[in-house]
Amino acid sequence: MRLNKHPQDILVSRLHAANQDNICDHFLRLDIRSRRARFCGAVSDGGILKYAQNIFRNDSIVCGASVDGQLRGIVELRGVFRSWPSTAEAAFSVEPVWQNIGIGDALFERMFAMAQNRGVRTIQMMCLKENSRMRHLMAKHDALLHNDHDAIEAVLRPHGPTLKSVMEEIVGEARSYGYGLIE
Ligand SMILES: CC(C)(COP(=O)(O)OP(=O)(O)OC[C@H]1O[C@@H](n2cnc3c(N)ncnc32)[C@H](O)[C@@H]1OP(=O)(O)O)[C@@H](O)C(=O)NCCC(=O)NCCS
Repeated sequence: MRLNKHPQDILVSRLHAANQDNICDHFLRLDIRSRRARFCGAVSDGGILKYAQNIFRNDSIVCGASVDGQLRGIVELRGVFRSWPSTAEAAFSVEPVWQNIGIGDALFERMFAMAQNRGVRTIQMMCLKENSRMRHLMAKHDALLHNDHDAIEAVLRPHGPTLKSVMEEIVGEARSYGYGLIE
């Protein structure tokens, strides 16, 4: 099924510990295929629960993409505050029915701006070799791709904050906040 939704319907905002239940529900809505792609292996509901409960314990920034007020996608940027200048790891998940309508791309742009704004110098990503959609997104955003057995490793090297990256984050957060007030 392809949804009749457009990038302007997608709101991306930072998530916090108060959103933990929504994050957990989002991960549980991933089907077997998407779970395998996200976690590079099979994960049970119990494993998902444990993962979601610890999501903010890894110096992570988590951003969510919502459509019609419902969380449909997440990007995690792990390790942001661990060192300076930092190396962080990004991982994406979009619920199956909501894939391929621009949510991953919107999360990618926000993740990159947030990393830039926090002085992250290296962003690492990993996906399974057969994950051609994720490979496309990484290449589209100028990541350097490297083959490693069954997986593809990708690296991005941001150059610090720019007016564009700061505005992307401020305007994006304000848009989500404004939408929340209207709702
Ligand atoms: C991979 C994933 C994050 C992408 O998010 P998404 O919302 O589905 O992707 P988008 O709609 O934003 O963008 C898809 C892009 O890939 C392209 N695409 C779609 N299917 C493709 C395919 N089979 N091969 C190559 N490119 C493809 C689309 O044309 C689009 O390109 P464009 O932005 O240049 O127009 C999402 O599908 C997902 O969560 N998958 C399961 C978990 C996962 O794979 N996580 C990644 C590992 S960290």
